[in-house]
Amino acid sequence: MTPSNLIVFAIFVILLNPIPTQVDGQKEQSDIIEALLTLQKALGGKTNTWDRSTAPCSWKGIRCVEGEVTEIRLPGGSLIGVIPNGVFGSLSSLRALSIHDDAIVGPLPSDLASCVQLRYLYLHRNGFEGDISVLGSLKKLINLDISQNKFSSDDVSTIGSLRDLANLNLGSNEFSGSIPESFSELQNLRSLLLENNDFSGVIPDLDLRNLKSFNVSYNNLTGSVPNKLRSFPETSFLGMSSLCGGSLQPCEDEKEKKTDKLSIKQLLGIIIPCIIFLLILLFLLLFCCLRRRRASQAKETDLEASSATTTAARRSVNSNASTGSASSKVLVFFDPDPTKKFDLEELLRASAEVLGKGTFGTTYKALLEQGFTVAVKRLRSVDVSDATAFRSKIESLGKMVHPNLVPLRAFYNGREETLFIYDFMYVGSLSARLHGTRGSGRIPFNWEARLEVAIGSACGIAYIHSTGETTSHGNIKTSNILLSEECSAFVSDHGLNQFVSDSSAPSRGPGYQAAEVTDTRRVSQKADVYSFGIVLLELLTCKAPVMNDECRDLPRWVRSMKREEWFNEVFDSELLRDHAMEDEMIVLLEIGLDCTEQHPDKRPVMSDVLRRIQDIRNATVSPPY
Ligand SMILES: *[C@@H]1O[C@H](CO)[C@@H](O)[C@H](O)[C@H]1NC(C)=O
Ligand SMILES: *[C@@H]1O[C@H](CO)[C@@H](O)[C@H](O)[C@H]1NC(C)=O
Repeated sequence: MTPSNLIVFAIFVILLNPIPTQVDGQKEQSDIIEALLTLQKALGGKTNTWDRSTAPCSWKGIRCVEGEVTEIRLPGGSLIGVIPNGVFGSLSSLRALSIHDDAIVGPLPSDLASCVQLRYLYLHRNGFEGDISVLGSLKKLINLDISQNKFSSDDVSTIGSLRDLANLNLGSNEFSGSIPESFSELQNLRSLLLENNDFSGVIPDLDLRNLKSFNVSYNNLTGSVPNKLRSFPETSFLGMSSLCGGSLQPCEDEKEKKTDKLSIKQLLGIIIPCIIFLLILLFLLLFCCLRRRRASQAKETDLEASSATTTAARRSVNSNASTGSASSKVLVFFDPDPTKKFDLEELLRASAEVLGKGTFGTTYKALLEQGFTVAVKRLRSVDVSDATAFRSKIESLGKMVHPNLVPLRAFYNGREETLFIYDFMYVGSLSARLHGTRGSGRIPFNWEARLEVAIGSACGIAYIHSTGETTSHGNIKTSNILLSEECSAFVSDHGLNQFVSDSSAPSRGPGYQAAEVTDTRRVSQKADVYSFGIVLLELLTCKAPVMNDECRDLPRWVRSMKREEWFNEVFDSELLRDHAMEDEMIVLLEIGLDCTEQHPDKRPVMSDVLRRIQDIRNATVSPPY
């Protein structure tokens, strides 16, 4: 190399040196910190916990991927003030911004347009105002909720360019002008909510195949409802007297056509209900017959199996001793209430109905002559070799009393069988509620109710764990969580696993059991936590714990999905209408994933699980705005 070549080479090396990029990286980090601290200064509230001496990725409400801030979630974070420019320009990797239920006022900052990766934007229930043209740059938006602010604009057609939108809520603002034709481009749209604005003119003929939820109530719209939107109910079009067609008053020009077709329509109107009525009658008859047969069958088997012990029971039944030895031939009651006592004969006389065959035995529903109903669980093979151990196990079960636990009312231990008797007052199991009839007759199982069930069942299980270091439920699954009419949850069948005599290999089938369980009679608290994690995932996804199509289990399937796809791909479609609560759902899903860690030591303890679930609600109590 000649000296001049050497100089050129040296310059070249300096230009290519990796050190400057590292400086760039540091600069980016300090930009991010500055941006977030600007936000903190402007809004206060929960951002006041942000502390410069720690890494921003660990700050409350901030989530990062590879050092880039991807999520800011501070719903109900008591944020008050105006967002200045100079924040979002440095946060261009943002995928989710959730600052709803705060008290933010003023216009949207114009540099929000740099957040081109943004998928989820939740600004609802604040005091934002001004126009929304900046949102037109956020082409990847999937969920956009800016309802209940003071935004005003007479042209929102820019929203029509956000082709990935699935949920759009512009409700309760001051938007005016027409509903843009460009909304027809939003082919992924599932919900379009425009109520309580000042939109005027006719409703455009939107051909949106995926639209499940639509509301334009309380605007200033006129004319006829377009054909494609006529399937929506009257409550989608409230408060606009000059609107017609569909579920509303017929339009003038359609009245004539109606009278022409009246004769055929009338005819069909008479014939169809008649046929339906006959079918229902037939179905009811069939159903009654089947039910009666099944009930009498169940009762017969019950009687058969117990006949050997009945005589002995009859002799001692009246003594009704309140403590039972292992071979006692009486019903032993734990509930001191005398009005709720009955004897074995009365139980055997009761009309019984098989409720289900579970892991450890068959459950019957028995209506007693006294007028109340009990659930009787008959265990197949019970280990009574150690009478003292048996008795102490039973007694500790009888002592467990908690509002979220189905109480053990009584038990009977005969030569042939062991009966556990519980109150019957539940409308069904969580399993039935989740996987029962979908379609018309179904009452939606919304997020509020599901969170309620998660809290209730976690309370019940945490209570069981609190009664002793090794006390566990042993068989947690959605069919062992019962629901009352008000959707309160009651954990049932706790502790039954320990009475079974054969340590039958754990049935891997249902997918609730942690891999480390080798004896179903000995299930640790950490294994309970695993099972409860599966219950949480099932509650959110409505998918069975074992996915037979792919030989994968539920936690692995959830982990295989990208986080930003969770809302649309992982959650039960019935929850999509509650999309404003997505933050809460994500927290619960994360708790479910933590519970289902493969290694028992990595799983949280039940009291922590309970606290975290309860925090979901506490964190989002709306501030007064
Ligand atoms: C409703 O729209 C019509 C024009 O379509 C306008 O004349 C009228 O003032 C509007 N009413 C309200 C209450 O905004
Ligand atoms: C539409 O919004 C109005 C006003 O908020 C509400 O009363 C109505 O029940 C909503 N309709 C539907 C179908 O959600």
